[in-house]
Amino acid sequence: MKSMGLYNNVERILADLAAAGLGPDSPLTVSDLTPFDQYHYEGTVAVDEAAFALGATSGLEVLDVGAGLGGPARYLAETSGAIVTALELQADLDKLGAKLTERCGLAEHVHHVNGDILTDDLGAGRFGGMMSMLCVLHIADRDQLFSRCAHALAPGARIFIEDYYERAPMTEQEKADLAHDVSCPYLPDLETYVSQVANAGFIDIDVTDMTHDWTDFVAERLGAFRSARTELTDRYNPATVASLDRFYATVASLFDGGNLGGIRLTATRAGSNS
Ligand SMILES: C[S@@+](CC[C@H](N)C(=O)[O-])C[C@H]1O[C@@H](n2cnc3c(N)ncnc32)[C@H](O)[C@@H]1O
Repeated sequence: MKSMGLYNNVERILADLAAAGLGPDSPLTVSDLTPFDQYHYEGTVAVDEAAFALGATSGLEVLDVGAGLGGPARYLAETSGAIVTALELQADLDKLGAKLTERCGLAEHVHHVNGDILTDDLGAGRFGGMMSMLCVLHIADRDQLFSRCAHALAPGARIFIEDYYERAPMTEQEKADLAHDVSCPYLPDLETYVSQVANAGFIDIDVTDMTHDWTDFVAERLGAFRSARTELTDRYNPATVASLDRFYATVASLFDGGNLGGIRLTATRAGSNS
């Protein structure tokens, strides 16, 4: 996964904060961080959608699968009062995310866990909601993934997923770029995706196609990054800037090609816990 530019030198967020006048010991607010700690598309607007879909309210226990630096988890906890478990596979992201949460004074509301959704048991039926922003695309074993999600959720709990799907058959080059630059080893078409979610015990599955919005978003992200390239080279380092450029450019080109699609999926955990 570290072949992917987004996950290299994740400490660069400290340089972003320093450039905004926030030193390593300054207390932070969630809004100090949101320009830098959202690794999905459309920033906190997408997390607002998640909060609405989950019916997030004070005290609701929400599992964030693939939490990254914890940006969506902190924002959701602060804006809704939900108690969020931020599950993250990569130890460096998890550790830094926990430090940022502490600096925001949110450690009672966001619990960081370094682990793997495929294998970690977070407690059967424990959570009243789940969000997962651009994490599923990293995971090939969808049966195991969705059944572990179902296991962790209480009956009636809602899920909110933002993810990729195969909109039209990918070329071999696109598949190779996705696997190498985006660490995405597998993509189902939409019908297959929905049946995988249903087979794991979810009902009321609703899908919104985000492809057009995300195609624009990733093109603008690349443009903004390239406009700031000189400044960012000073702020980070040339290697970090080169690997981020490659990542942003690959994603923009894949969406522009029309075969990569994006979805927002909501569903409800059915039945009893197993
Ligand atoms: C594109 S990032 C998004 C991070 C965060 N959701 C956000 O929007 O800012 C996807 C994250 O999923 C994590 N991830 C991938 N596979 C995972 C797994 N099996 N269990 C837990 N986290 C995983 C990655 O390490 C990465 O940090």
